[in-house]
Amino acid sequence: MRPMDLQGKNVVVTGAGRGIGEALARAFHARGARVALADLAGAGDVAATLEGAIAFDADVSTEAGNRALVDAAMAEFGRIDLFFANAGVAVGGDVLETPEDDWDLAFDVNVHAHRWAAKYLLPDWLERGDGYFCSTASAAGLLAQIGSGPYTLTKRAAVAFAEYLAITYGDAGIKVSCLCPQGVNTDMLNAGDDALPGGNVVKAAGAVLEPAEVAEAVCATIEAESFFVLPHPEVAEYMQLKASDPDRWLGGMRKLQRTVLGR
Ligand SMILES: NC(=O)c1ccc[n+]([C@@H]2O[C@H](COP(=O)([O-])OP(=O)(O)OC[C@H]3O[C@@H](n4cnc5c(N)ncnc54)[C@H](O)[C@@H]3O)[C@@H](O)[C@H]2O)c1
Repeated sequence: MRPMDLQGKNVVVTGAGRGIGEALARAFHARGARVALADLAGAGDVAATLEGAIAFDADVSTEAGNRALVDAAMAEFGRIDLFFANAGVAVGGDVLETPEDDWDLAFDVNVHAHRWAAKYLLPDWLERGDGYFCSTASAAGLLAQIGSGPYTLTKRAAVAFAEYLAITYGDAGIKVSCLCPQGVNTDMLNAGDDALPGGNVVKAAGAVLEPAEVAEAVCATIEAESFFVLPHPEVAEYMQLKASDPDRWLGGMRKLQRTVLGR
């Protein structure tokens, strides 16, 4: 018997209009979950292809947007079993060139959205002694994103928040998982000027997975109720190297930067 069976569970996924979020919604739906897909301009096109799925227009860059999303999903489902804070932005580059507005947006979507969602989910979850919070951080949150200060800082903070939730509320029945992939074949990695700074480094560092492969790894982790989802297994090795010899790890990252970015 698997600890977490997604069959019949009520699941909300943010950033579900495309990319990893869309693949997550499809994978949960395939396992029999009732899925609500949330995105800036809705995710109606995707929801229309999944029987019984619903879509919400939701901007998770504000506290009000997260509250409205949780309220709307509660009104629809009566209960949220699993909330996946997946929406993310890749704005900003180096510290010397990133406008303050980009720093704010990166923190709002990549970090604050997670705690705002948790703030409105936890009261019901704690009353019931049950609830599952998942977030999409990144391997950049465990290691670093060469070329992007905002991405490095916000993804590290997202990992830290997920760890905080697991520690603080694990004994109260709240489960937490945190997705930390390297390269995934989505608009964020590939979409020209709007793509993640340092995307070429990500592509050079290892395999670029398809969103559906990542979603399968997520489902296996949720079914096992484990914390980290590491679809690229080498990320665990890099973490060990970083912990055991930080100076060597930093030297290796600088070498990667020189090799791929020429600086
Ligand atoms: N693609 C990769 O290589 C990669 C690697 C590691 C982590 N990630 C993370 O995976 C997550 C999904 O990214 P993706 O690769 O699918 O990129 P993507 O750009 O294809 O999808 C991101 C989605 O988030 C939505 N979104 C952005 N801001 C939002 C907001 N304020 N409110 C609601 N929705 C919003 C977008 O509309 C979009 O549909 C992100 O958190 C990203 O940082 C991606």
